[in-house]
Amino acid sequence: MAIERTLSIIKPDATEKNVIGKIIARFEEEGLRPIGIRMQHLSLSDAQGFYAVHSERPFFGELVEFMTRNPVVVMALEGENAVAKNREIMGATNPADAAEGTLRKLFASSIGENSVHGSDSAENAAIEIAYFFRSTELCPR
Ligand code: CMP
Repeated sequence: MAIERTLSIIKPDATEKNVIGKIIARFEEEGLRPIGIRMQHLSLSDAQGFYAVHSERPFFGELVEFMTRNPVVVMALEGENAVAKNREIMGATNPADAAEGTLRKLFASSIGENSVHGSDSAENAAIEIAYFFRSTELCPR
């Protein structure tokens, strides 16, 4: 299996619930190491730019409003099959469909407020990591 990187965001609903540590511990237990990590209160343009691919969707305004409501934690995670592994740990986008034990089943309340984001491909992971981190801010080991 390949060592990959993926971008994870602990979203405002999760930082509000004080579960940052539980979420990071879960990634570490499952072999995904944070190699870049920062808490950040996203500006409107940060959130609009990150989710630009969804700009025509009816939920875009709601999504941007939510993502700027309170701080998030942005992380570059590294490990074997990191993209797929992260998505497995997160569970389905809608927590109602998420498997038992996944982060969204445990912590999320709705499809909009779904606690965590994870890149959907290695290609997008590279783009998303570069959106938040300079290469000098990443510490692979
Ligand atoms: P995420 O994986 O961060 O990528 C896009 C986000 O849009 C997604 O998680 C959800 O939080 C949000 N989203 C997707 N579908 C809907 C929807 N139908 N209503 C509100 N938000 C949505």
